[in-house]
Amino acid sequence: MESLFTRHVDDANRKDDLNRKAFESARAVRFYDFSTPRLFEGEATILESLRPALKEKRLLDIGIGGGRTTPFLLEISTDYTGIDYSARLVARARDKFKIDSIFQCDVRDMRRFADETFDFAFFSFNGLDYVSHEGRIKALAEIHRILKSGGIYMFSAHNRSYRYLREEPWGRGVAFGTLSFFKECVWQVLLIPRHYWMRRFEVNKRNYAVLNDSARRHSLLTYYITAPAQVAQLRSTGFTAIDVYDARGNPIEDDDSSPWIYYVARKGPA
Ligand SMILES: C[S@@+](CC[C@H](N)C(=O)[O-])C[C@H]1O[C@@H](n2cnc3c(N)ncnc32)[C@H](O)[C@@H]1O
Repeated sequence: MESLFTRHVDDANRKDDLNRKAFESARAVRFYDFSTPRLFEGEATILESLRPALKEKRLLDIGIGGGRTTPFLLEISTDYTGIDYSARLVARARDKFKIDSIFQCDVRDMRRFADETFDFAFFSFNGLDYVSHEGRIKALAEIHRILKSGGIYMFSAHNRSYRYLREEPWGRGVAFGTLSFFKECVWQVLLIPRHYWMRRFEVNKRNYAVLNDSARRHSLLTYYITAPAQVAQLRSTGFTAIDVYDARGNPIEDDDSSPWIYYVARKGPA
């Protein structure tokens, strides 16, 4: 029997609102305010290989959050622009780095940037996965538009083929019997009502899914896609020469061992 918790609601705007609210929260500011900024292993490996091509080029950091990636991109080029749609996170990043070129801007509507402005766009830590499917297609078109011919778009996306999908917290490697394991179990129980409420907004399509995983205490609706489907989506938006990497930065075609996958796509000549 359908209840308030199980009734399915397919409303892309509502999903976007729920995610945006989570990124506007004071808790998000604390979570993304890394005191010691670091790159993930895959990011570090891939960025190192791109470094010579990006030296002193025009870089756009999308969804910067608290600016985790800012110092690393500034090392590559001083021509740096950062954007995020969360006013709170933008305020925090501006305050921290004292840079004027950090703006509040939604990736789906980057009218403030002319066509072919940037050599490189980077949407890190799966930020693209927090807009709806329709929003994602708009975002990819906008990123393609603001890149110069030959420009590079690097991002990561949650992996729908991940072997531990839906097996959290155990699937996230929390060791059995430890204090963390116990705390995770308590959280999972406390969060059951929120999770079941959020599950009403989940979507399962042939090419992608939108799931309420345990990230940020079940407060988000997250897009999951397989590597082959993501490559096809990029191609249909006009990107070419697409390289795919696992979480450690090793080239792959498909993979079930990485919770998220990295993509490096190029804008071909018009
Ligand atoms: C998972 S967080 C990652 C933050 C940061 N890049 C990091 O690695 O710590 C995703 C970020 O993307 C931002 N974001 C999500 N959707 C966005 C959109 N439509 N336009 C701009 N930023 C967006 C969120 O506000 C959030 O800061």
